[in-house]
Amino acid sequence: MCGIVGYVGGRVATPLLINGLKRLEYRGYDSAGVAVWQPEALVIRKCVGRLSVLEQSLLAQPIAGTLGIGHTRWATHGEPNEVNSHPHTDCHGRIAVVHNGIIENYQELRAELQQQGHTFRSQTDTEVIPHLIEAELAAGAPSPEEAIRRALRRAKGAYALGILFHDQPGTMYAARCGSPLIVGVGPGEHFIASDVPAIVDQVRRVIYLNDGEVVVLRADSVAISRLDGTPVEAMIQAVTIAAEAVERAGFETFMLKEIHEQPRILRHLLARHEWQNGTVAMPDLALGAPYFRKLNRVMVVACGSAYHAGMYGKLLMEHLTSLAVETDLASEFRYRDPKIDPGTLVVAVSQSGETADTLASIRMAKTWGCKVLSICNVPGSTVARESDAVFFTEAGPEIGVAATKSFTAQLMAFALLSVFIGRARNEVGEAQAQELLVALRTVPDAIHYMLDRSADIRKLADKHHDGPSSLYLGRRFNYPTALEGALKNKEISYQHAEGYAAGEMKHGPIALINEYLPVICICTQTRDEVYAKMVSNMKEVEARHGRIIALATDGDVGMPQLTEDIIWVPPGRDEFSPLVNVVALQLLAYYAAQARGTDIDKPRNLAKSVTVE
Ligand code: G6P
Repeated sequence: MCGIVGYVGGRVATPLLINGLKRLEYRGYDSAGVAVWQPEALVIRKCVGRLSVLEQSLLAQPIAGTLGIGHTRWATHGEPNEVNSHPHTDCHGRIAVVHNGIIENYQELRAELQQQGHTFRSQTDTEVIPHLIEAELAAGAPSPEEAIRRALRRAKGAYALGILFHDQPGTMYAARCGSPLIVGVGPGEHFIASDVPAIVDQVRRVIYLNDGEVVVLRADSVAISRLDGTPVEAMIQAVTIAAEAVERAGFETFMLKEIHEQPRILRHLLARHEWQNGTVAMPDLALGAPYFRKLNRVMVVACGSAYHAGMYGKLLMEHLTSLAVETDLASEFRYRDPKIDPGTLVVAVSQSGETADTLASIRMAKTWGCKVLSICNVPGSTVARESDAVFFTEAGPEIGVAATKSFTAQLMAFALLSVFIGRARNEVGEAQAQELLVALRTVPDAIHYMLDRSADIRKLADKHHDGPSSLYLGRRFNYPTALEGALKNKEISYQHAEGYAAGEMKHGPIALINEYLPVICICTQTRDEVYAKMVSNMKEVEARHGRIIALATDGDVGMPQLTEDIIWVPPGRDEFSPLVNVVALQLLAYYAAQARGTDIDKPRNLAKSVTVE
């Protein structure tokens, strides 16, 4: 949800801003803008549409200057047009602000400022910030940073801000509350950015700002303070990701690259959590076996794909331990009255570690005295920092908006954690745990096998992509897979797709079935009692002339009698089949999107990191 980059130092700012914003386009891409300090004024350039429009404009008419802030927008308040694009300014164009987040009390602040004579140009919530700062300076704030602190003490909601003042050459200001912001530290220069990948090719050291901090950056100094003015010591940390991790590496899209990275990532996770002392190793987990032994309940909270991973986690944990496990959407969980006590472990699943609802759920859980374990992909993210223990999925930066590698890494995290907890509670025997691990180790190769079948999957996508809708059916472990497959399809191909528990088909979706509806049936759990039920459901689809696309296990001789459109999956343990099946569905969605000509890495209206409610 909106990306921010800022620069102060000795180099020309705009190429650095554009370079960083390109890596943040997954956060928003409906308009973009920059503000650059020049002796005569703060020069602002904004363009509607993709960042490339702004880039072209800056190439045609460059702006010199070594101090600047930039923004790529995902509109919340006000349609994507030039006026609503950031940066926004005060009445006289002397203060420029870029913002990620939502100022919730902007209407009352705006009304108050308008009464004082401030003129507003946009429909955004952001515009109150430069005006508030202007008002605080006019009211006697002794310095720009104090004016920022006073203004922000009045703002409610979430923000990451980059701020320039025309009368403060060589100085960039930034602040954070609820939306991510980091400072990049280089020799004689500083950056601000919404996340590390934006500047990973420029700096190797960063400072993760905390909520309620304001920072003043000059080429060679950093000064952080809290909103009450108390100084804070800057904690500089090394960047752990490589610059190449945010390149496409020859793939036509980031999403395709990320799909292909999955075997390597899962192999790496398996190696990190090898067999050790009678269980899988959890080298970095701050909660140990004694804690899990006493545990009586688990509550998993997440959004989007991470929620589907959480649904799988519930099934697997229930299967391998005696724990009562529940999974809920973070956006629902935070507004209900769950009966949770300190004996409950809250598991938060989040790729970005910045999702507003997931974060709010964590904070609620902590007020109830619960421990929070997060499954997270971004070190230094807010979710990771606020959790008692973190299982890092170590999938590397995920740039494609639709989650792929982070999702399978979350499934693997749940698999390893379930075995670990089962062992800790002595509900999984040593031999059984070893068997499970052996089965898990076959998953990366099985995914390779799926990737090798890309051409076959593409043919099916070409055949079935044109309809208005599709239905995805699965049972038990593959019910979440069906939901995730449908989500991938709608996210990137814009075809309406519905994921359903196959047993529920008769309670509604069956009415949709006709000769035009592709029905993707996940029927790979051959050893599970739900296999026969799934076959019956497929027969019901067949009887109504639905276009069945089956995911079936190699050697399943009955399947070709039901349909000719089969994605063959290598055999493996039923419990772990979602890790392989979902890759087939990612590819199916990918090629459908390609056939429909969408912008796969940046699908319309979607943001990768949802930092507002
Ligand atoms: C957005 C993304 C999804 C993601 C969800 C949760 O909707 O587009 O891909 O699954 O947010 O994000 P998180 O970072 O918490 O996993």
